This record gives sequence, structure tokens and C-alpha cells, in this order.
Amino acid sequence: MSSTYDFGMIGLGVMGRNFLLNIADHGFSAAGLDLDQEKADALDEESEGKAVKGTTNTAEFIALLRRPRRIMLLVPAGKAVDSAIEALLPHLDNGDLIIDGGNSHFEDTNRRQEYLKMKGLQFLGVGVSGGAEGARKGPSIMPGGNVEAYQLVGPILEAVSAKVNGDPCVAHLGSGSAGHYVKMVHNGIEYGLMQLIAEAYDILKTIGGLSNEELHQVFSLWNKGALESFLIEITADIFAKRDPESDGFLVDQILDKAKQKGTGKWTSQSAMDLGIGIPTIDAAVTMRGISALKMERKQTAPHYIRAIEETPEVHKEQVIYQVGEALHFAFITTYAQGMHLLAEASEEYGYGLNLETVAKIWRGGCIIRAELLEIMRQAYQEQPALRNLLLAPVFHEPLLHSQQAARAILKTAIDFGVPTMALSSALAYFDAFRNPRLPLNLVQAQRDYFGSHTYERVDKEGVFHTEW
Ligand code: 6PG
Repeated sequence: MSSTYDFGMIGLGVMGRNFLLNIADHGFSAAGLDLDQEKADALDEESEGKAVKGTTNTAEFIALLRRPRRIMLLVPAGKAVDSAIEALLPHLDNGDLIIDGGNSHFEDTNRRQEYLKMKGLQFLGVGVSGGAEGARKGPSIMPGGNVEAYQLVGPILEAVSAKVNGDPCVAHLGSGSAGHYVKMVHNGIEYGLMQLIAEAYDILKTIGGLSNEELHQVFSLWNKGALESFLIEITADIFAKRDPESDGFLVDQILDKAKQKGTGKWTSQSAMDLGIGIPTIDAAVTMRGISALKMERKQTAPHYIRAIEETPEVHKEQVIYQVGEALHFAFITTYAQGMHLLAEASEEYGYGLNLETVAKIWRGGCIIRAELLEIMRQAYQEQPALRNLLLAPVFHEPLLHSQQAARAILKTAIDFGVPTMALSSALAYFDAFRNPRLPLNLVQAQRDYFGSHTYERVDKEGVFHTEW
């Protein structure tokens, strides 16, 4: 057996298989390892005629790869990654590269990087976004780690990634766990946008009275304008899908309990650690939790039927217009929150992130790809040190304009009792950020009152305490 294969993949679920097939389409040979014979066979079947080989035998897999070996893991985040690494170690040689392509927590990535360095191995923590279809046709890829390690695999990743105007949606993002941190925040923004769209749906349906056909039309139209994005596009498709088991629409048959694998929560936790507010992402995580409490919600409902006394008259067209504007407003502020967190994390953890590059590689292939990202990329190109996108001149007018409709539709939603935790948080974030004098002087006074925690004054330097 000759060691000629360019790339190895461990974990031949649909993502791993698709990623390998994509690699083979670009002229690289690739070997896949999975302990499940069926998955290894599925790879061999799907890759007929291509330079791809599946196996269940680790020694055989290793023997196929040319050195330095480039091995990607696409296994569930957590213990499975450590187990896969341990199983590989006895077979590897100095300078071989392990790439973790899953949604690993960035602190695990730091730990693994240190551990493998001690063993003379290279390690990259790489975020991969785009789901099964992205893996097959071109994902957005977010690698982090040392540059030499990236260079071993850069040409392959660049070949298989999505392209926007010919530019690959992959770039070496920074040192250490930069790639997995950026992917985590990508997912946090994904949570935020999905929750915003869900609230828009609720308002359109509950207040505007739109049918699924109308929702399909409205989202399709939005996808041709400022909101053009993958998530708006698939939402339009979802409303058109009939249920094969009844004569209704599939969306109406789906239980309103959203699951989560944790990346949104990690984003909120990390933002709390760094002291950066990302309330729309927090709201999205919170709403997944509340959605899961179906039984409690059903028990509570009958007690508060009378909560809404009277609802105002609404006009469907106006509701549609206002919701579209509110979504535009909230999309921008959600990306702004995520990007601000990246700016802070980059400083705190020494990642050396370039936010223009992040916006650039998110323009294609990933779940949060959107037209807006090209505008953001340009904003960072003009002002590389931009901390928050609210400060980018290109967003001043669009936000000033769209916030009016956001306020109007939120008032209506409150009158109807439609929960808008994410949409409201986007507006509150904007109102807080544009406010040079928040009421937190009072919080400082209270802290000093009960705990002698001291305060600063507006009129002179120093630290003060008062016997209240
Ligand atoms: C992507 C997705 C992907 C996955 C999410 C789902 O970028 O391709 O983000 O990573 O679908 O992890 O996350 P939840 O299960 O937490 O919703």
C-alpha cells in the first residue's frame, strides 16, 4: 500500500463524507476512517471513480496518508475529539497535523494545542459552517492555530471552500483557538438571527394574520432586498413545504420546542466573561430554553388569558413593512454585537483577528451568509480598528431609518402580547449604545450605599465614598 493520499478524515457521517467528496472533486486524494463499517462503505459507494478510500482500520488509514499527514476530525465536540486524538497518537510522527473541524469549545482547543505541541504534532482548530450541503459544495472555513500548520493544509481548504467573487471563504484567522472562537460567535449570531426571524413570523402570523402562502411570498420578496441571506431564503422555502402526512403545511406540525447543542450558550457565557453585551444572542439562547418548557407554558396559559384587554387595529401591509424594517435593523445590531465580542476577544486572547477577513469569509458558504456582510466588510476595510459597527458611517442612516418602524411594530407586539425578546433587545441595545448618560450612576450609588464599593464623579478625578 503506498502512502500517497493527500488528506485524511476521521468521522464519516454525512458531513465528513461530503467534505471528502468535495476534496476529491478538487483533485486531491483523500482517505476516510470510521469505526462504523456502514459509513466507510457508504463513502466508497458515493466516491466511485474518485481518489477516495474508506476504511475502519486505523493502521490502514494512517498507512494511506503521505507525510506530513493531514488528518481532520469531524466528530461530535467534547470527549469524542479527545478519544479520536488518543487513538491516533501511537500512529503519528513528528510534524503530522491534526485538524479539529467540529464545533469544539475554544478552551478545549487551547488545551489540545498545548498537549499536541508537547508531542511534536501540529494542531489546528477549524470552524466549518454550511451544514451537509456546504460541506459538499463549499463551506465557509474558519481556521485558527499557527501559520506553519495552516500552510500544510491551506491550499486544500482554499480549493474546497465556498467562493464569493472568486475569493475563497477561508483564511487563516489567527493564533491559538481563534478559528473555533470565530465559529462559536458565528453560531451565536446564527442563534440571534434565527430567533429574530421566528419573532417576525409570530408577528406576521398572529398580528398580521398572514397565511403560510403569504409568509412564503413576503420572505421571498425580502430575500431580494436588503435582507438577502441564507436564513431568509430557507425560511421562505419552509413556509411553502406541505406536510406529507396531513393536508396542511409542515411548519404547523412541528413542535415548538427548539433544541441546542451549546454554541449559542457558549457565546453568551464568553461575552459575560469579557463584559461585552450581546443581548440579542442572549435572548435567543433564553428563548430556546423557554421553548423547551412546553408543559409549564401550557399550565401557565389559562391563568393569564385576560392579560390582553384590547388590541389596536392593524393594517396587514403596514405590519409587513414594519416587520421587514425591524428585521433589517435587528440583523445589523446582532452582527454588531457578535463582531464587538470578536474585537474584544481578539485583544483579550491575543488572536490577532482581522474583522474585515472575518466578514469576508462569512459572505459565502456559512449559515449567516448575507448581503449585509459585504457592507460590513467594506466598513472594516475603511476602519480596521472599528470596535462596533454602530460606529460605521455606512450604517448610520439605515439604522436611523429602520429603528422607527422597529419601535412602531414593537409597540404593537406589546399590545398584542406577542413575545419579542430578541427584537426588543436589539432596539434596547441600540438605545443603550447611543446613550451618553445611562442611569447606572444610580447603580453605583446603591453599591456605595450598601457596600461602600465607592464611585467616580463626573466633575473630578478620583474614587469617592459617601456615608449615605
Ligand atoms: C453551521 C451550523 C452548525 C450546526 C449548529 C446547530 O455553521 O453549519 O452552525 O454548526 O448546525 O451547531 O446548532 P444548534 O444545534 O445548537 O442549534
